[in-house]
Amino acid sequence: MSSALFSAFRLRQLALANRIVVSPMCQYSAVEGCATDWHLAHWTQLLQSGAGMFTIEATAVSAIGRITHGCLGLYDDACEEAIARRLAIARGNAPPIPVAVQLAHAGRKGSSKVPWEGGQPIPVEQGGWTPVAPSPLAQLPDERPPAALDSAGIAQIKKEFVAAAERAARLDLDALELHCAHGYLLHEFLSPISNRRHDAYGGALEHRVRLPLEVFAAVREVWPEGKPMGVRISATDWVDGGWTIDDSIAFVERLKAAGCDWIDTSSGGISPAQKIPLGPGYQVHLSRQIRRAASIATIAVGLITDAKQAEAIVASGDADLVAMARAMLWDPRWPWHAAATLGAQVHVPPQYWRSAPREAAKVIVNAKLGMR
Ligand SMILES: Cc1cc2nc3c(=O)[nH]c(=O)nc-3n(C[C@H](O)[C@H](O)[C@H](O)COP(=O)(O)O)c2cc1C
Repeated sequence: MSSALFSAFRLRQLALANRIVVSPMCQYSAVEGCATDWHLAHWTQLLQSGAGMFTIEATAVSAIGRITHGCLGLYDDACEEAIARRLAIARGNAPPIPVAVQLAHAGRKGSSKVPWEGGQPIPVEQGGWTPVAPSPLAQLPDERPPAALDSAGIAQIKKEFVAAAERAARLDLDALELHCAHGYLLHEFLSPISNRRHDAYGGALEHRVRLPLEVFAAVREVWPEGKPMGVRISATDWVDGGWTIDDSIAFVERLKAAGCDWIDTSSGGISPAQKIPLGPGYQVHLSRQIRRAASIATIAVGLITDAKQAEAIVASGDADLVAMARAMLWDPRWPWHAAATLGAQVHVPPQYWRSAPREAAKVIVNAKLGMR
């Protein structure tokens, strides 16, 4: 049996052993932006998952670009060193799986409590900060508005993304994803709901895509040529008068021309008025439309939980890759089990080669054991 999900894939010079991507997942466990031993444990576990690529969580390009005080950052030497040290250990204890990082700026969603403390905004007087955004419009009507970025502020944002990408390159990360989704800063520039500017960065679609495209181009310039770079978008705001799939296609065509290697097709996050039709694979049709219209590699994400479902998404051409978040936390060996279901194989650390049950005896690549 030959599986589409477990077939190899290439992004520039990067080889992926299969089509399963561990989706970026904030852990809210950093201190002053620095990775902790929680990250060491989390990364090690997911690098042993058998996935084709692992994505490090939304990683802030500045301290005020964090969502919470617990968000990971890549904006100073301490942040860089904290990732370097722990990632080296995690990589040293797992098969060689490509590691991507998602670079992000939280925009108006910054200065929030961590989810398990309620996620509410933290005012400046209580140790928070004033978040920045394209326009002084709060996410919710009863919240304090963010500060609108002026042209010096916009120039600064670009520099911060570039500096973080240079650090990511020094960390020898394999791929870079720009976070333009979920109502964070770059999505806030794209969406007419959050962007009410009247300058070159607001108004018509051509203006609203300007900052994300400028950031993409500036980062691509410093990110090593042979390494791939993609973008996560919210392909629709799911709100009347918001960003649409047609806007996404227009944006993706420009990204592709600028050298974008994949579109990670998520949705929503800009407004509490959104109406998301949740269900298995609820965003796959967005991936399909973008892949067909723009002829670019796509990642489908969102309630993909079952091996045969994931196989069908790749086999039918709805996406090149599937990303999984919650199902990977629930079952960090999901790819091992999917490989067993689909008659495929995964790379597994030799310490665990004896794990495969009789009915999945062939699931582990190169497993051979001898004892006296
Ligand atoms: C704990 C957790 C943290 C997340 N953090 C991020 C993140 O850092 N960046 C991002 O783009 N999406 C983030 N997401 C969204 C996931 O990457 C994914 O798109 C979403 O959960 C839908 O996929 P799923 O149904 O497989 O969970 C997060 C989701 C979860 C559950």
